[in-house]
Amino acid sequence: MERECMESKCMEKITVELGDRSYPIYTATDFSGLGSALGETGPGSRVMIVTDSNVSRLYLEACMNALASAGADVCSHVFEAGEKSKHLDTVKDIYRELAAQHFDRNSAIAALGGGVTGDIAGFAAATYMRGISYIQIPTTLLAQADSSIGGKTGVDFEGVKNMVGAFYQPRFVYININTLRTLPLRELRSGLAEVIKHGLIMDAGLYDYIRLNMRKIFEFDESTLLYIAKANCNIKRSVVEQDEKEGGLRAILNLGHTIGHAVESVSGFELLHGECVSIGTAGVFRLAWKLGSVSRDIMEEVEQTLKAAGLPVRAPGMDPRRIYAEMLHDKKAKAGKLNFVLPERIGKVTVCATDDQKLLMDVLEELTA
Ligand code: NAD
Ligand code: GLY
Repeated sequence: MERECMESKCMEKITVELGDRSYPIYTATDFSGLGSALGETGPGSRVMIVTDSNVSRLYLEACMNALASAGADVCSHVFEAGEKSKHLDTVKDIYRELAAQHFDRNSAIAALGGGVTGDIAGFAAATYMRGISYIQIPTTLLAQADSSIGGKTGVDFEGVKNMVGAFYQPRFVYININTLRTLPLRELRSGLAEVIKHGLIMDAGLYDYIRLNMRKIFEFDESTLLYIAKANCNIKRSVVEQDEKEGGLRAILNLGHTIGHAVESVSGFELLHGECVSIGTAGVFRLAWKLGSVSRDIMEEVEQTLKAAGLPVRAPGMDPRRIYAEMLHDKKAKAGKLNFVLPERIGKVTVCATDDQKLLMDVLEELTA
């Protein structure tokens, strides 16, 4: 990891090594280094910031100024905040705006916001004129820990999450951890689900750090948030470097997602993504316990950690048969077999496929009781 001083503040840089698609992730405590990050990576002299109706009120002006300070010609496009905007019509609106502003292949999109913004704006960048550059400026914990890194872009289609999309890497990611201060508490908790997930899949030290520093996270302690941001980026970086297009290893990042995505759909997107990942994580630890790969103590401790983060570990009253049907509909299900990332211990998981309906329904019934 490199440490460099840019503008007035020190920020750190972690590089995702992907050959000619390598890119830096900057972690910082404000936006003062954004202009120099743009100058260093040079994605284009014209930038359209795509952001949502909440984030635009908070950070659009600061980011426009920071990018303009690097000599960029900056404009913006704002869409209605929320998962319900994550569809092709929002992408079409962005294409129209880009075309109206005569954006070409020497221009770039900046995704300023949470995972919804990053996924939509990244997909627009991947497809407009067969691909223009984009940068990620994530402002939710979920986006800072997970979605802004790794190049998964896309939108939901006919009720199915992320059905249409592309792998398309950003030119850089700029994380200002202090944007988390304005995040609604429920969203912060939701993002913590992905952070805890990273610890559970490959970093027992990060998992313990989160357990022991939960209070400091909710107090927005800068050194705690920077430590977590960097640890997360390093986990995501290392997985993406080894398996950019999810041919194998990258699937471990989907811990809790087979059940989680289905719960998200059945809830009609009333539950947040991270809340569903938390329920799904509790579900796979329960599955692993029933299969004898983790102890009851570990399963209960993980549930306790998720609860301490203010996350749900059950979906009471939800129909388990509907969750099961949704899981079968998932794009990762193959010939009736469902893929699960199963824990072996804290910090170690394995990917397996099962069609054991009885076992899965037992888990889902307990999760929804
Ligand atoms: P989001 O983008 O909808 O943001 C959550 C809410 O917080 C929104 O209302 C937003 O306006 C608001 N917000 C964002 N930043 C804020 C801030 N700093 N202060 C105040 N309000 C702020 O949701 P999310 O949880 O960030 O992302 C969820 C999405 O990410 C889902 O669509 C999920 O599928 C996707 N995702 C993608 C990947 C990937 O690898 N591409 C990984 C995980 C999740
Ligand atoms: N969030 C899962 C992935 O990026 O692969």
